[in-house]
Amino acid sequence: MLTSQVQKPAAKPKYKQRPSAVQQYLPEIITITSGKGGVGKTNLAVNLGILLSQRKQRVLLMDADLQLGKLDVILGASPRYTLADLVEGRKTIDEIIMHHPSGIDILPATSGDLDLLDADDRMLKVLANSFSSIQSLYDYLIVDTGAGLSPTVLTMALGADKVILLVTPEPASVSDVYAMIKVISQKAPDLPLILVPNRHSSLEDGVELHKKLNLITQKFLKTTIYYGGSIVEDNAVRQAVIRQRPFVTEFPNSQAANNLQLVCHRLLKFPRQDFDRRSNIFDRLKEKRKVMETA
Ligand SMILES: Nc1ncnc2c1ncn2[C@@H]1O[C@H](COP(=O)(O)OP(=O)(O)OP(=O)(O)O)[C@@H](O)[C@H]1O
Ligand SMILES: [Mg+2]
Repeated sequence: MLTSQVQKPAAKPKYKQRPSAVQQYLPEIITITSGKGGVGKTNLAVNLGILLSQRKQRVLLMDADLQLGKLDVILGASPRYTLADLVEGRKTIDEIIMHHPSGIDILPATSGDLDLLDADDRMLKVLANSFSSIQSLYDYLIVDTGAGLSPTVLTMALGADKVILLVTPEPASVSDVYAMIKVISQKAPDLPLILVPNRHSSLEDGVELHKKLNLITQKFLKTTIYYGGSIVEDNAVRQAVIRQRPFVTEFPNSQAANNLQLVCHRLLKFPRQDFDRRSNIFDRLKEKRKVMETA
């Protein structure tokens, strides 16, 4: 791994302070997930995060794929410490956050030692308290999850302000994302669900898939899913993954990068979650676990 790419700045970095906020500023939480695995979630999380940061948004990426986090592979940077080190009192939150040269920060949650869902309330309180000290530094918290209807993924989705659902043209991916929409919309009917079709042969195919799926979810689930923009199948993504670099910086003029610019643009135009309805991600996890338990 090219760990040398990740530097720890000696002093506090570049962040601007929010003007006299009455309450503490909290980032908007966007969880990225899918019904089926391997559809491009981690690539989307990293590259969207970078595009947002290029548009002056301060982004923290949280790797919540507890089984198989691959943020480090795509960014060419292994985390030295994880949330487990924080919980055990070995490191402070500043020490585990990685500042990547692309402009985003990464909070590595992946660890064999720590399952956020099994963590007791006291542990989540420790995490929530530590997180409070840094959360106002960010505009967005992007959470990269694993795929499917596992309790971890669902809790991360239910704890978000918005959920981006990735889907590819394969029938299994489409039926799995429908199952996901069904469960999320039952548990959180007001949570905005944004569909991003990936690996389509044309943008029109992505638009078409959204249209069809939305008709079905409106009819059978009484749920509208928003269109977040499509990303076509592009060799640049595969090449960038092989080089362990984000495709938006490695191939900024590729079709996939251009498509993602539009996704980013749409996302910034979506109404943002009201400040007074935002809360700390770890407090939310505590709350949402209870919703899962009563399922
Ligand atoms: N638009 C695209 N064009 C071409 N290849 C793509 C595209 N999007 C993703 N891929 C390929 O799919 C692979 C899997 O992507 P990624 O690791 O982001 O998926 P994931 O959904 O995070 O997987 P997991 O469910 O295992 O976490 C990438 O390594 C890349 O080769
Ligand atoms: Mg992944």
